[in-house]
Amino acid sequence: MNIGIMWRIFCACTVLLAGAPALASDATEVPALLPQPWQLEIADGSWSLPDTGEVLLPDDPALADATAWVLGLLREQGIDWQPVGATENAALRLVRLSTRALEQQFTAAGRALSPEQQAEAYLLQVDARGMQLKAADLKGFQNGLATVWQLAQTPGSLPYLTVLDAPEFAWRGLMLDSARHLQSVDYILRQLDWMALHKLNVFHWHLTDDQAWRLEIKAYPKLTEVGAYRVPAGQAPAAAIDPATGEPALYGGYYTQDEIRRVVAHATARGIMVLPEIDVPGHATAAIVAYPELGVAGHVPEAVPADWGIYHNVFNLEEGTFEFLETVLDEIVTLFPGPFIHLGGDEVVTEQWEGSERVRARMDELGIEALQDLQNYYVERLQGHLDQYERRVIGWDEILESDLPAHAAVMSWRGVSGAIEAAAKGHQTVLSPAPTLYFDHIQTAASDAPPGRGGVITVRDVYEFDPLPDTLLENREFVLGLQANLWTEHVRREIQAEYMTWPRAVAVAEVGWTTADQRSWPEFSARLTQHLPRLQALGIRVATDPQALTGIAPIGTPDPLMREDRELELCSNAVVLAVEDDAPLSGARESYLVDIMRPCWLWRDADLTNIAAISASVGQLPFNFQLGKDLANVVVLPPETEAGELVVQLHSCDGPVVATLPLAPAVDQFGASTLPSAPLAPLARSAGQADLCLRFRRPALDPYWALDWLRLEPKS
Ligand code: ACM
Repeated sequence: MNIGIMWRIFCACTVLLAGAPALASDATEVPALLPQPWQLEIADGSWSLPDTGEVLLPDDPALADATAWVLGLLREQGIDWQPVGATENAALRLVRLSTRALEQQFTAAGRALSPEQQAEAYLLQVDARGMQLKAADLKGFQNGLATVWQLAQTPGSLPYLTVLDAPEFAWRGLMLDSARHLQSVDYILRQLDWMALHKLNVFHWHLTDDQAWRLEIKAYPKLTEVGAYRVPAGQAPAAAIDPATGEPALYGGYYTQDEIRRVVAHATARGIMVLPEIDVPGHATAAIVAYPELGVAGHVPEAVPADWGIYHNVFNLEEGTFEFLETVLDEIVTLFPGPFIHLGGDEVVTEQWEGSERVRARMDELGIEALQDLQNYYVERLQGHLDQYERRVIGWDEILESDLPAHAAVMSWRGVSGAIEAAAKGHQTVLSPAPTLYFDHIQTAASDAPPGRGGVITVRDVYEFDPLPDTLLENREFVLGLQANLWTEHVRREIQAEYMTWPRAVAVAEVGWTTADQRSWPEFSARLTQHLPRLQALGIRVATDPQALTGIAPIGTPDPLMREDRELELCSNAVVLAVEDDAPLSGARESYLVDIMRPCWLWRDADLTNIAAISASVGQLPFNFQLGKDLANVVVLPPETEAGELVVQLHSCDGPVVATLPLAPAVDQFGASTLPSAPLAPLARSAGQADLCLRFRRPALDPYWALDWLRLEPKS
């Protein structure tokens, strides 16, 4: 190879920092790779990717499959490369290295690899002969093929280059909640493909929760016959009668074991481990509805519920319940080959146990003294059962609250303190802290953005998350990596799930692949800008609005007479949601930004000069939140009319009422409805520029109301 001018591009590379595409010595662009490889060297010369070509690869069916997938993607963009038995001039050559030879290459470059890193490592060269990919392990080839795919997206010719690459962390994950809302198998397969193209390698599948059990278990068919279906909350679903039953139509579905095997096989072929989660002993209502004998007597709901939040229903302590859980695990281990099974363990409320004489008696029999040790009993017992299969429990960080089996691992979600504690105690740990790695948070405040939890988390927020803070450094060996979680209470549709995931998942991929000193937001941002059209070409419905990407909201000039909900200020930020309407039953819905604890908005400096009236569009929403003791703090202002009113107050929420819009015309409407305009009191008109406070008075907690938009109507 002609190494004329050669320079190394590490992540903090100054040429890319400038934001302009860097140029190789003969004016070909330095390709934007995500995640950024550990080492990328550019040499003098360039190679044009041929439209037709040959691929030479070792005789290995799994590798042939992995290669065939990437070649299939290239074919869709007009690059037709065919595998051949032997050739002198292949466009792409895959060469298997011995582990020792691979190790030597990295050692020579100054990096020592762990066995896990070695398995994922690869070398890739582009020169006058084309591309050559070397690895010792299938995973290394899979990672290298993702880089080949990204290189093939670079317009024009490629500079001669050498990539020497291996991940920093072994666990680079995404979690998808298929319990709150269900996604199709096709969606999940596509998601796995997109993960693989970014070297994300763990798909954590949240399969059971209060609101559904989605995994077929042959020994317990009612788990899915009963537990996979619910009537969604709200007046629109309640009115949608299924003619077959005369009852409201059910929402739901589940994954058959054949479908699960298809997903797992697909993931394995892409180098991704599927981590199933069965939530125990809380978040268990759907299972308890299906098999009431699993619950605490007196606390078994009749139907699978549709509220969000924390239900108090927990599994009981009967021997039969442990037999149930162990039988479920016996089936799970046949479906999921990975080393870990996630047993949840989060947000367990002990109230039902505490109030049950039978549970107390069982605790005595089992020698469990304190309620907080009950959680540990489940983990210990089920880990004991899984030991025969050489599988390990991983659970949310609450499982740390009492002693854990040494080989159980911990997923830290309440910040990173769970990870710090777990690592200090010698447990392996994965960082997936809320809110930064919670992809149900909205990416932007734009009014047309999909619903989610309030509190914007941008790509930049995710990129700047450090999975290895100083507090974890001394126990670095226990940090497996990081993971982002897409909870789907407010993410009903696949199109929304895609938007919430991408491109934030690209940032997770790079944070998991690199070390902190390799990362630079401006440089990543420049590469991401080049990468977004590739994601769109794959068909991913990706968030591209400026705030989602940069955190900077575009400065617009709002209409002085009109405000959408997301352009108004909320009076408080207790539980802020961008919450969806309950209608229509499928397709796009209106969403509203609201603090459900205190629905109240402020229009700052509204120009009221010459304004005669005010009109509004409002949505009526089911109050379907399990808030426990916090329920007492929800503000419900008593109404003056039967249906309630939207009330406008001047200057502040203690100021005089200057308009009242009765809600009666909207009560029987599905979706957002526009209220007849109401006159604005002369007092307001003479106020000039002033703040307006907007609140609803309502007859009950449920339903509640939210603002869609507000309009000031000038005197004609
Ligand atoms: C969680 O968010 N309850 C793990």
